[in-house]
Amino acid sequence: MIVELASSEDAADVARIINAAYHAGEPGIWHGGWTRTNPNAVGQLIEAGEIAVAREDDGRVVGSVRVRRLDDETAELGMLSVDPAAFGAGTGRALLTFAEQHHGTAFMQLELLVPHGAPHPQKERLHDWYSRLGYRQISSRVFDEPLLAGPADLRTYRKSLRAAPAT
Ligand SMILES: CC(C)(COP(=O)(O)OP(=O)(O)OC[C@H]1O[C@@H](n2cnc3c(N)ncnc32)[C@H](O)[C@@H]1OP(=O)(O)O)[C@@H](O)C(=O)NCCC(=O)NCCS
Repeated sequence: MIVELASSEDAADVARIINAAYHAGEPGIWHGGWTRTNPNAVGQLIEAGEIAVAREDDGRVVGSVRVRRLDDETAELGMLSVDPAAFGAGTGRALLTFAEQHHGTAFMQLELLVPHGAPHPQKERLHDWYSRLGYRQISSRVFDEPLLAGPADLRTYRKSLRAAPAT
């Protein structure tokens, strides 16, 4: 498997995988009919050089991540997504590592949408994973979207990329 910047021909595959991944990863968080993105929006991000893809040896896309520079010292990763058929095989970790190295910044940020109320299993697992990798929550704001099934917070996590690597 390789991770590299996406090309324009990848837009439909990337959009399909993002929507499938979020459908699997955010059960109960959204009302029916919600989708995370579409090929047109993904095409614009690819054009801007903000989408990296994980490919199998035959070229097939199995995951993607958005990475962009926020300021001189900080980059942000988002929409980290893997084809649900390939969950748990290390693709997400490979995409996250690519994102952390891509801009050579001192800090990386990401956001985690967490519904109020009972702990959400997938979000708990992601919080634990990001924490093990060195990410710490630095802020939180109420996220208000009409298609949300209930109230939720958008937490921002930050990691120093200059610190000793976490395992
Ligand atoms: C998060 C995600 C990208 C991880 O991709 P992956 O290829 O399965 O990840 P890896 O095999 O490299 O494992 C890394 C971590 O991913 C998470 N993960 C893996 N399989 C998972 C699953 N079936 N359900 C939820 N999280 C899972 C775990 O936190 C795992 O770490 P752990 O095994 O130490 O707990 C993938 O599960 C996904 O697309 N989820 C839905 C979209 C999403 O929630 N994106 C993140 C938004 S902040």
